[in-house]
Amino acid sequence: MQAIVAVDKNWGIGYENNLLFNVPEDMRFFKEKTTGKLVVMGRKTFLSLPGQKPLPNRKNIVLSRDKNFSPQGVLVLSSVEDLFEYLQAYKSDDIFIIGGQSIYETMLPYCSRIYVTHFESESPSDKFFPPLNCHSEWERTFTSEKVHSKGLTFTFNTYEKVQD
Ligand SMILES: NC(=O)c1ccc[n+]([C@@H]2O[C@H](COP(=O)([O-])OP(=O)(O)OC[C@H]3O[C@@H](n4cnc5c(N)ncnc54)[C@H](OP(=O)(O)O)[C@@H]3O)[C@@H](O)[C@H]2O)c1
Repeated sequence: MQAIVAVDKNWGIGYENNLLFNVPEDMRFFKEKTTGKLVVMGRKTFLSLPGQKPLPNRKNIVLSRDKNFSPQGVLVLSSVEDLFEYLQAYKSDDIFIIGGQSIYETMLPYCSRIYVTHFESESPSDKFFPPLNCHSEWERTFTSEKVHSKGLTFTFNTYEKVQD
């Protein structure tokens, strides 16, 4: 499976249950990569989506231990065990882990590729992605040209798990 994330200079991903950055190029990249796929997110990330609605044209899976949490249009699963059982029917390349911090941390060991949008700036953050540059099992295999938008500079990157 794969993960997709946007981080600041310090691997920050969110603040007060919101994203740090909102630039059209990154939103477009996220949409292109995940459309038609299955996306897995935690309850807090789901609640941060516009209108608290599922992402269109994607199978939305939300992890929550709250048995009363059952928004329309998403499949709520209450454990990683249930998630893996459900994912058996899907190809690894069709599964995207889309956050937030707790879900990235839990699912990172099962990912083989991660798309990281690196913003060059620092932004106040209270949620983070594991710093892949400190993990020897992850290798950065692609970096795009720098993109400038809305006063921000960023690159699109691919990290792949190093084969044993
Ligand atoms: N920069 C990015 O690319 C990006 C992407 C996504 C999110 N974010 C940001 O990340 C932040 C949210 O991250 P977060 O860590 O606070 O929340 P989260 O991971 O989105 O959701 C946490 C919730 O998921 C459920 N959960 C977690 N592990 C579970 C498990 N093993 N089994 C069942 N349920 C489980 C729990 O829900 P219950 O409490 O209901 O049990 C938990 O409270 C926000 O600021 C958001 O904007 C950033």
